[in-house]
Amino acid sequence: MTNPALEEPIPAEPADPNADLSSLLPLTARIEGGHLHVGGVDMVELARTHGTALYAMDEDHIRHQLRDFRRWTSYHWPEVETVYAAKAFMCKAMCRVVHEEGCMVLCASGGELAIALAAGVPASRIQVHGNNKTMEELSEAIEAGVDRIIADSLLELRRISEVATARGLVQPVLLRITPGVKPATHGYIQTGQEDSKFGFGLNHGLAMEAVRTAVALPGVRFAGLHMHIGSQIFALQSYSKAIEVMVDFMRQVSEETGEAVRDLDVGGGIGIKYGLDDEPSTIEQYGKVVVDGIKEECERNGLPVPRILIEPGRSVVANAGITLYTVGTIKEVPGIRTYVAIDGGMTDNIRPALYGARYECFVANKADQPRTEVVTVAGKHCETGDLIARDAQIQPVETGDVLAVCATGAYCQSMSSNYNKQVRPGVVFVKDGAARVVVRRETYDDLLRCDVG
Ligand code: LLP
Repeated sequence: MTNPALEEPIPAEPADPNADLSSLLPLTARIEGGHLHVGGVDMVELARTHGTALYAMDEDHIRHQLRDFRRWTSYHWPEVETVYAAKAFMCKAMCRVVHEEGCMVLCASGGELAIALAAGVPASRIQVHGNNKTMEELSEAIEAGVDRIIADSLLELRRISEVATARGLVQPVLLRITPGVKPATHGYIQTGQEDSKFGFGLNHGLAMEAVRTAVALPGVRFAGLHMHIGSQIFALQSYSKAIEVMVDFMRQVSEETGEAVRDLDVGGGIGIKYGLDDEPSTIEQYGKVVVDGIKEECERNGLPVPRILIEPGRSVVANAGITLYTVGTIKEVPGIRTYVAIDGGMTDNIRPALYGARYECFVANKADQPRTEVVTVAGKHCETGDLIARDAQIQPVETGDVLAVCATGAYCQSMSSNYNKQVRPGVVFVKDGAARVVVRRETYDDLLRCDVG
């Protein structure tokens, strides 16, 4: 019997062994002397000096993406804020890059808020969201003076007002609306449909009740509306559809309450290229569809164009990152498959196990050789489903080789765990031939730090 985690058939077409993976790699990736280089740094040497598993991130790539979001949205409308969704990847160095590039930081928890503040991001450049923020998290955000809190429920609106009035403050809020649009993406990362744990639905008058509540509460200032329909979205029509619904609701708000919607936040979700067949839209196309869509809908509804907010996460960091591993055991199951085991796995990249996500990889120290072998890259953890790449096409591989997995900059480090008491990898930023550790690898002492029994 074959491995139950591998039962789903894989298209049998062998990929071209000379296929160019550069469209999945960071912008500064080069092959020199058979080795992968990123940011002018030899990734094989980096793996050997810093140890593996290791996340390497191209700082120029991250900055380039943030600039592109700003450029292609403000090209169509001056008042657009790019609010980087920190959950995709966050550390102090990342927050500083985001702030230096003129973008805001979107935090999903008190922990993310603490890191953004510790990085020196002014609270006026931070927004906070989440479907069930605790009283502590709300108090921390309000006391810090964050720009906006994105409110998800009536209970939360009342809590925000309570906390703010107790401190003599008025907190600006956006209301998260579920526009009833279901984009084509993995069910776990669809969020815009009516049956969702997030936000206020438009049916049954819930969203309008939220607006009236926000307007009436003394500690809350109604600043606008928010949506986030999902993640890894390729079809831009999903945004157009949702924008139509949101602007129509803006008109209803203005007609029924007289309140202007100053901010319209369209969330994040733009897809990225994990595989060579993926065809995500460009930031330029996204900027045009979103911003022109809002302008056109506002014109049709006779409304002024609001300040527009976008919240990209994955598209800023995914292709900026690679994960480096050292190959250990190689096990051939005769007539079935070869398992190539690495010194990491589901603890540093849960996405294959959680979403069936597929990744391309190659041998970083044989990067100029054709990828003629098909192997399954397995993690080192005690789970059959701990696989990083099924039927991956790579170069002939030996123990001790450095394996590079492409496009791991988003939702890998941020979703990492200590399962099996694995220490989590460090993160290195590379730029202009230099490498700097921005998150150090954990040690056993870190594992024991909270273990106080
Ligand atoms: N704004 C809000 C309110 C969000 O919830 C998210 C992501 C974003 C923006 C950023 O979306 P992005 O541009 O990164 O697609 N763990 C999953 C992704 C979960 C996304 C959650 N929300 C994964 O690994 O695919």
